[in-house]
Amino acid sequence: MIATRLHPDKQAAAQAIAREIADLIEIRSKSGKPTVLGLATGSTPLPLYGELIRLHREEKLSFRAVITFNLDEYEGLGPTHPQSYRSFMEENLFRHLDIPKANIHIPDGLTSDAAKHCADYEAAIHAAGGIDLQLLGIGRTGHIGFNEPPSAADSRTRRVHLDELTRRDNSAFFGDLAQVPHGALTMGVATILEARRVELIAFGEAKADIVRRAMKETPSAGCPATWLQQHPRCTFHLDAAAAKAL
Ligand code: PGA
Repeated sequence: MIATRLHPDKQAAAQAIAREIADLIEIRSKSGKPTVLGLATGSTPLPLYGELIRLHREEKLSFRAVITFNLDEYEGLGPTHPQSYRSFMEENLFRHLDIPKANIHIPDGLTSDAAKHCADYEAAIHAAGGIDLQLLGIGRTGHIGFNEPPSAADSRTRRVHLDELTRRDNSAFFGDLAQVPHGALTMGVATILEARRVELIAFGEAKADIVRRAMKETPSAGCPATWLQQHPRCTFHLDAAAAKAL
């Protein structure tokens, strides 16, 4: 079941989701429990990360008891590469918060044993108690994380090949298509579906068609975001442009 929540603009969506995250952290910390967040990269979550930083600075929201697992990382990019998701997260979120470094998990794009690294990533999520809230963007291919079509509902954290449309869409960050890696490590669809709550964010007209497909098409590997229909607690946060085709 996918619920939709329409927001007047990106900033309003960021404020609403940041408030939900803050409430979750506060509720769990009252009973002495950590909060496990699944995090996403790309341009979509940036206003949300800005708002979380504001809540930390101005409202003293603490991330000391937060554990994070990022969805994915480009293959071949190390932590200091400016386009790696590790640097993206450091720059746009982590370095502004009080989250302990040991609580941050992002797949290692330089691993020499991807199969083992991915199995260890799954085990670390499990050991942390599972993901309480997973943030997602959606790619125009229907990917969630880097689960490009075809991605089965039972897929796990693994090495994947990026779709050419995704490489083109992400080339803006690299300045040049040739610089965009061809591979990535990503949490699987099953990994994402196991999160207790999923909050997907999509803005703008370019996402309208894929948002419609994700919500209306019969779930299939050909459009991986359709698997979210099988999640018991998934919300699509949209602006009017992204909701246009619904
Ligand atoms: P975007 O990417 O936020 O840059 O649009 C979303 C995604 O590919 O999941």
